[in-house]
Amino acid sequence: MVLRLLDSISVEYPQFVKSGKVVNADEYAEQIEFSAQVADAVRNFPPRPEKDALVASAANLATLIVDKGDSAKVSQGARNLQRGLIKAFRIQIAPVRAPDLGNAAALYQSICAACHGAAGDGNGPQAAALEPRPTNFRDHARQFERSLYGLYNTITFGVEGTSMQAFASLRAEERWALAFFVSQFVSTEDERNQGGQLWERPGMRTLFPGLSDLVGATPAETLRVGTSAYQVFAYLRAHPAMIPSQDSTAPLSIATAKIRESLERYRQGNREAALQAAISAYLEGYALAEAGLDRVDHSLRNRIEQDMMAYRSLLRNTAAVDVVEHRALALTKSIEEAATLSSRGELSAAGAFTAAFIIIAREGLQAILVLAAVAAFLIKSGRRQGLKHLHAGWVVALLLGVATWIASSTLVEISGAQREFTEGLTALLFAVVLLCAGYRLHGRSHASRWHSSIRGQASDSLSQATLCGIALVSFLAVFGEAFETVPFMQGLWMLSDRVWRGGLVAGVASAGAALAIIAWLVCRYSARLPWWLLFSLSSLYLAVLAVIFAGKGVAALQAAGQLPTDPLPISGMPALGIYPSVQGLALQSLLVVVIVASFLYGRVDDRPRSS
Ligand code: HEC
Repeated sequence: MVLRLLDSISVEYPQFVKSGKVVNADEYAEQIEFSAQVADAVRNFPPRPEKDALVASAANLATLIVDKGDSAKVSQGARNLQRGLIKAFRIQIAPVRAPDLGNAAALYQSICAACHGAAGDGNGPQAAALEPRPTNFRDHARQFERSLYGLYNTITFGVEGTSMQAFASLRAEERWALAFFVSQFVSTEDERNQGGQLWERPGMRTLFPGLSDLVGATPAETLRVGTSAYQVFAYLRAHPAMIPSQDSTAPLSIATAKIRESLERYRQGNREAALQAAISAYLEGYALAEAGLDRVDHSLRNRIEQDMMAYRSLLRNTAAVDVVEHRALALTKSIEEAATLSSRGELSAAGAFTAAFIIIAREGLQAILVLAAVAAFLIKSGRRQGLKHLHAGWVVALLLGVATWIASSTLVEISGAQREFTEGLTALLFAVVLLCAGYRLHGRSHASRWHSSIRGQASDSLSQATLCGIALVSFLAVFGEAFETVPFMQGLWMLSDRVWRGGLVAGVASAGAALAIIAWLVCRYSARLPWWLLFSLSSLYLAVLAVIFAGKGVAALQAAGQLPTDPLPISGMPALGIYPSVQGLALQSLLVVVIVASFLYGRVDDRPRSS
């Protein structure tokens, strides 16, 4: 109430008292009453370090008004007091996030234009019959003293004794959207365009770091700062989504903010920038929260990931604005749902332990099985000299993976796009190497040679190229996984900020120990399998893994914006590398055909010899 009274003093006092002369006695009396109410209320506020100063300035303001003081001084005094109160009592004046102005124009035309006029000039069809007249939103003198916060309050509470009713029945977001919308009448398109260009310049962002800075300021004030500041201000009032979200550290709020920014850019006709924002919504925001969300709601996690993919492809294919709008809205809804869920599923030490354990064990198991398959084959075929290369490969990969993790959280900022790009390339390369390795295990030219060497009839040593190949398989098996777990672990680390991070470390350590035991068991017991079964199982495993990684690689490159995406209306299975895109599935189908063909070809060729 106090903030609203101060608002009305700062806007109306100059109209009723001009150069020390009272123009309207009744209204002036009301201003005196308002300022007395304010002074009274502030005196009764709970204690704060700043309170004495605030009480003093409220009293000063009241005296100044009684003395019919200078109107500029009164306006400024009222606004300063307003600011001081907002700061001292940490009042949240801005909406939680920028309102979506997409429907504001339509809403205005359907319920406000009858009085305020289609062009905001206060000359709607009903206006002539009203006293007082509806506000002319193009009237500089008055609107230059109006903050968005003030407009919003009038829309919410109405103006007593006038035909301006309280629109409390509209949702808060709609009321904010209308406030932003009507605030644009007082600026020109030219000013807004200029402001848009200025906003892209580096230093300008500090002018309005957050929504509350925009919402609390008046045009008159910003114009006093300078023309550029005013133009940026006018631009932002038309495009509030361009201001980064306040709570910009939480990954999910980054995701929503970026989607909103993307939509805004798309509406402005800048498809490239819209796409960039959509990509960073995923990579800088959503990807970091995925690990946490996965634990709470697995299907929601998958749905959002796929919706983001579909959204990006809409942008790429220059879809109609309303289609993109619809998608963006659904997407932000799901992300907000995810945010609520994640915050409810607050991590405990035990939770952090389980999450870390599951992630490391799941990712590590794949890698361990690849290593075990190759190791078992080397041991079984009496080529133990290859083990050295095998071990070198994974040790280097692990060290490099850990180094990346440390570097990315302390030294350099690895952007989401870079990370996804590296992940994609590694996965595709790994798929190729796995295919080759599987082929060599199973390949027709080698099967009989392996066979004979096992029987001790030949003792050919491994060529240098094969040794390098072994080291490469081992390196990629571990590096890919290590690199992939980096963002997951980072996400968990951020989430578990407030709880016992020891849980996280213990989870990683236990998973490592479990994997070591599994590796040992696999090596030990696989040696007891008949050689043909071992080779078939290993090569089958490598082939399946190659298909999975091909899918993951394509999806990662698509996420990084390096490959086109044509979504398919199916739900994918990310764990199996199945993503609903034409490109990914096409490559995977091709691989399956190649693998099956080479498998059949190898058998046909083998048959006469083995008989
Ligand atoms: C029945 C007519 C009528 C309708 C409909 C109406 N208004 Fe008003 N509005 C008024 C009048 C009259 C005033 C001036 C009140 C005064 O003199 O203080 C006003 C004042 C305002 C103000 C205050 C402006 C200022 O500078 O103080 C805002 C903001 C506003 N209206 C927004 C809206 C919006 C948004 C809508 C639609 C949701 C709307 N109004 C619908 C009649 C109307």
